[in-house]
Amino acid sequence: LQNALRYDGRVAIVTGAGNGLGRVHALLLGARGAHVVVNDLGGDVHGGGKSSAAADQVVAEIKAAGGSAVANYDSVEDGSRIVQTALDHFGGVDIVINNAGILRDSSFAKMSADDWDLIYRVHVLGAFRVTHAAWPHLRNKGYGRIVMTTSAAGIYGNFGQANYSMAKMGLIGMANTLAIEGAAKNVLVNTIAPLAGSRISETVMPPQMMEALKPEFVAPLAAYLCHESCRENGSLFEVGAGFHAKLRWQRTQGHHFHGQAFGPEQVARHWQEIVDFDDATYPASIGESLMSIVQDVGSPFGQSKA
Ligand code: NAI
Repeated sequence: LQNALRYDGRVAIVTGAGNGLGRVHALLLGARGAHVVVNDLGGDVHGGGKSSAAADQVVAEIKAAGGSAVANYDSVEDGSRIVQTALDHFGGVDIVINNAGILRDSSFAKMSADDWDLIYRVHVLGAFRVTHAAWPHLRNKGYGRIVMTTSAAGIYGNFGQANYSMAKMGLIGMANTLAIEGAAKNVLVNTIAPLAGSRISETVMPPQMMEALKPEFVAPLAAYLCHESCRENGSLFEVGAGFHAKLRWQRTQGHHFHGQAFGPEQVARHWQEIVDFDDATYPASIGESLMSIVQDVGSPFGQSKA
């Protein structure tokens, strides 16, 4: 392969790498020279059980292809142990793909507090613990690439997934701020919203769709975002079946009362302006967002429009 993107000498942690998307992320990075920590708790899709088989299998596959990998069986909730595995075996960490995930779907009316907590713990607290443990190593080295894994359910909502949507949107929020905090140290953080046939999606996908949505169609984007040549930071991508696209916020021109007295009636009267996306703007930072809101008083970020 000419000009192949290589990861020689880089140490990559891929969480939930025993199955589905994490497995192909790990195989791809391993095939291109990275030392891979294949983390997987080896439980079922609802977060029950535990086994070393899934991670071991992927480590064996990477090694059989001539690559370098080590298994880790801790839950992402014990993220520091996963990072410790990278330090012990490979002497550092450069890449973190937060991918581990489970589902506890139920309509909101029937959702238990346990369903809510477990989804929070695996997706959000897990990504926090792994990333937080890796963070000082990445910053000290002045190099890091982090990928978060969100979901369309988080971006748009989905029936029966209030807990999962909460967690997945939480990861986008975390990534947005880590991208800002990490940038000066060349620690870049992006988020993917994949669609792929896996044991997670087979619960909601017909078989022919599973075929078209190979996890192998998601891994190239994740790998590119983890490459040293990629400067992308703080971005969100939808990816699956070969489709790749970036998302961003847009905002209507809106209506500003500029100090005039107003109540719900005036809000109602200006409703069309408030919700009309013609001439939408695309605020890309908290400063840009606040500019329009505080335009009369001057922005605390010193970027007043006036
Ligand atoms: P999968 O079920 O095939 O793989 C997830 C892996 O994470 C499993 O091997 C599981 O053992 C592991 N895992 C679960 N809890 C863990 C924990 N506490 N610690 C360590 N490992 C743990 O599912 P898939 O589809 O590959 O999902 C990967 C990620 O992509 C998840 O975060 C999922 O929410 C997300 N996603 C997947 C979509 C899809 O279409 N497959 C759609 C949107 C998001």
